[in-house]
Parts: sequence; structure tokens; C-alpha cells
Amino acid sequence: MADKDKVVIFDTTLRDGEQSPGFTMNIKEKIMLADQLIKLGVDVIEAGFPIASDGDFEAVKMIADRARGVQIAGLARANEKDIDVAWNAIKGAENPRIHTFISSSDIHIVHQFKKTREEVLNIAVDAVTQGKSFTNNVEFSPMDATRSDPVYLAEMVHAVIQAGAVTVNIPDTVGYAIPSDFNRLIRYLFEHVPNINDAIISVHCHNDLGLAVANSLAAIEAGARQIECTVNGIGERAGNTAMEEIVMAIRTREDLFHVHTDINTRQIVPTSRLLSNITGVSVQPNKAIVGGNAFAHESGIHQDGLLKNAMTYEIMKPEDVGISKSTLVLGKHSGRHAVLDRLASLGFTLDKEETDRFFRLFKALADSKKEVFDEDLMVLVGEAFFKGEDQRRYKVENVQISTGMFSPPMAMVTIKDRKKGSAEQFEVAHGNGGVDAGVIAVKKITGTTAHITSFNLVAITGGSDAVAEVHCTVAEEYEGKELKAFGSSANIDVSIAGIHSFVDALNKLEYMKMAGQRGREIMNGVNGKV
Ligand code: KIV
Ligand code: ZN
Repeated sequence: MADKDKVVIFDTTLRDGEQSPGFTMNIKEKIMLADQLIKLGVDVIEAGFPIASDGDFEAVKMIADRARGVQIAGLARANEKDIDVAWNAIKGAENPRIHTFISSSDIHIVHQFKKTREEVLNIAVDAVTQGKSFTNNVEFSPMDATRSDPVYLAEMVHAVIQAGAVTVNIPDTVGYAIPSDFNRLIRYLFEHVPNINDAIISVHCHNDLGLAVANSLAAIEAGARQIECTVNGIGERAGNTAMEEIVMAIRTREDLFHVHTDINTRQIVPTSRLLSNITGVSVQPNKAIVGGNAFAHESGIHQDGLLKNAMTYEIMKPEDVGISKSTLVLGKHSGRHAVLDRLASLGFTLDKEETDRFFRLFKALADSKKEVFDEDLMVLVGEAFFKGEDQRRYKVENVQISTGMFSPPMAMVTIKDRKKGSAEQFEVAHGNGGVDAGVIAVKKITGTTAHITSFNLVAITGGSDAVAEVHCTVAEEYEGKELKAFGSSANIDVSIAGIHSFVDALNKLEYMKMAGQRGREIMNGVNGKV
């Protein structure tokens, strides 16, 4: 027996979505996305418009032939050739669906087709009848339904259901509807089409006024039980109903809608990311459900509430959409609670004096930086612990690198060692590149037994003159234990940044040796996380 509370999710990312500028996909990409849509649990995949091109036909056919556990729809205009071609593309599917359409609005009938209402009605019925000769699973769409005369629309819906359409889709083709009047239109059809219960009523909303999801929800309230939607809301012009938004609205407000979908919501974000990766078009950070900021909080008041109970500022669990956890973005709006919580999660517990010093340093940094990352916090912890005094043992006085295609990279490094009365020491070394040569020279000068365990390079500005930021971790045996230290530096020259970050890490190792057990615990915490 049909579940009257189930909303069928009809995904048209590969058809309406793919036909919009910037979202074209090749066959391999379409197959990859179709596989993911199956994992996501959509009920129907509209795989394409087979008559549109040989490539479209091929892609629909390949998806139909391999996809299992999902219905595969092929779109066809209401004419013999389109329907034949669509059937040939989808007939290998486990459950193929022909989706045929023709406009019901006078604007289209008169100006585009130059036909009468009666002619169009007959074409619609003939198309459904032809589709039924291939499969029982025929869907019909009266295009531009929301600008059609409701009386004529009801007549057409009645006629196509009588001809055998098992799904009738009411498209808001130009995104003209407003939730209240779309709800009225769907109710009108339920009240005036005598055989309406013989079909599932679907809606297909475009987002020209930013109302596609709201209109789809209004239609569900009026009795619609299929939603046509796309991943990330892509589609013609301003796009279609966003799958992730409609699914999570239904789920989050089940108390209101009393319906459900079979979507595995944990696959929502992976699906969204896959589409962005394939098309190279990312979603805006504030996009509902799947945007980078959708589960990120920066306000101090919100962060404080969330840490006490996630319900205070979150209506959905990030895990439910496939994100491991919410992020508290640390920046100038963050409060002490959030910052200290992040420190604790990184393994640090500071005493009152250290905390006060740390928080002052944090605020100063946050004022000059959009976002404070874990690496920044670690550096600040080190500084807070060492009271900001300059206790660095080694100071790099000069670095000169020479390299070329036919000469081995060479570094000349001069360092002052405070333990040796700040005398300048100089070494030359060759290596596999400028950084390696410099590190070897530094090792010769300092005699350190520390070795680099990680080395990360990030370009923090763009262009060939980008500033390079280098983070490195070093490890050294000390009193039977392994000490680890984290160093960082930024410079326009990557080799110089690399050498400075190595020396910075060596200085921290020296701090740790001086700092006794407590200092080593803190600093090892700093470095162990990097
Ligand atoms: O927007 C529309 O009307 C369509 C139909 C083909 C359903 O995409
Ligand atoms: Zn559309």
C-alpha cells in the first residue's frame, strides 16, 4: 500500500541542473553523481533529456543500464519522436519512467506554439498514451502551470490521469508563484480534479524569486507528495528547489508537515561537495545546510550557548547532514569560554595567570586576523607560557641561498647563540633544495640532534610574489623522552621562511629544556598537536 505520508524525492540535478550555464558534466561525471544520488536515497533520478543530444542519450542510457534501486526518468517533449528516443534511452532501467511535458499557459500556447487549448490538450493525452504503451510509469508536466488558467489546468490534469499518467507534476516554470497562492492552486486541483487520487501530485519550482523551497513546502501542505529538486539548488536561471533544504525542512519540522522522505541525510553534504568538485562551482558560505558557514559560529554569545547545549543555537545536528561537527570559528567576536574550550580540546590547561596572558595575546591577534586557527593558538600558548620574554637561544643573523639548474643548492647561514655569548657562527652547506641546505647549515652550527617530523608550506597571499608561511615540527630525545616543538615563520622567500621556522622550533625545544616538567608538558602539548 502506498505510504501517503512519504514525499517522493525526484532529483533533476542531471537534467534541469545540468542544462544551466556552468554545470555541464561529461558522461563519467554524470555516472559518478548518479551513483552518489543512489547512496543519498533519492527515489527518482531524472538522468537527462535524451533527444537533446547524442551525449545526453548516451549518458541517460548508461545510467539507466547500471543504476539499481532507483527509478530512472528520461524527459521528452509531448511528441512521438521525443518519447521514442527517451524510451530507448531508459528502457534498460530497473524501473524506467517517461516524463513528458507540454505547456498549459495561454502565454505559451498562443505565443510559442500558436495552437489552441484543445489541440494542446489532445497532444498531452496522446503523449501519455504513447508513454503508457512502453511503461506504466508515466509522468506528465503541464509546463508554466502557475501562469495557466486553473480551470483549463484542472481539465488537463484530469485528462492525462485518465490517459494513465501516474504522476502529474505542476511546474512553476518561471518561478512566479508565492507560497500562499501556490498552496491555493494545489488545493484547487485536489478539489476540482475528480480522479486526482489516481496519481501522485508533484511540484517543480524554480527559484527566480528565491521562493522555490517555500513554494514546495506550501504544496506539500496542500497534498503534493513528490518534490522535484536539485543538489545545491542548481538549475535554469536562479535554479530549482534545493534538495538539501527541502529534505531538512521536512525533517526538522516534521511536527508541522507530518511527512517524511527516504533520504539518508548523512549523505547530503558529501553529495553537495561531489557536485561542487565535479562542476568547479562551490556553494556560497552562507548557503543553508551545505554552505561552509551553515554550522559555524563566531559570535561569543552563540559560542557560549552552544558549548552549554547545542540546542541553544542549532536546529539540526551537523552529523545528520554528514558534517562531523559544528565549528566555532575563533575570531575577534569569540569569548573566553570558546577559546579556552578549543585550547582544552587541543590538550592545554593553563593556570589563571597563563590564561589571562594568553587571552590578551589572543585578542590582539584576533584584531589583526579574520580567523584564528589552531596553529595560531599553539604559538600563542607558547608565548603566554614564556611571558613573552625573548628567551630565544638562537637568532638568525643572515641567510643566503644560491641555487641553479646546473649547480647544487647551497645555503650560507649566520646564527647568534646566546649560550655562547652571542658570538656569530657561520656555516655553508649543500642540500636537496634551498631549505634542506639551510637546515643542514643550521644543524652544523647548533649541533642539534633534532629532526624535522613535519613540514607544511602555505601560500598566504596570491601571485608569484606570494608570502609563504611554513610550519614545521621537530623532535629530539631529551632525558629519555621525546620532546617535540613547533616552529613557524612567514617570508616572501620560501627557503628563508623554512629555515626560520626550523630555528623557531629549535628555540622552542631549548625553552622546553629550560622550563622544567610543567613547561615541557605545555610545550609538548603545543607541538604534539601540529
Ligand atoms: O521548469 C519546467 O517547467 C521544467 C519542466 C520540463 C518540468 O523543467
Ligand atoms: Zn524546470
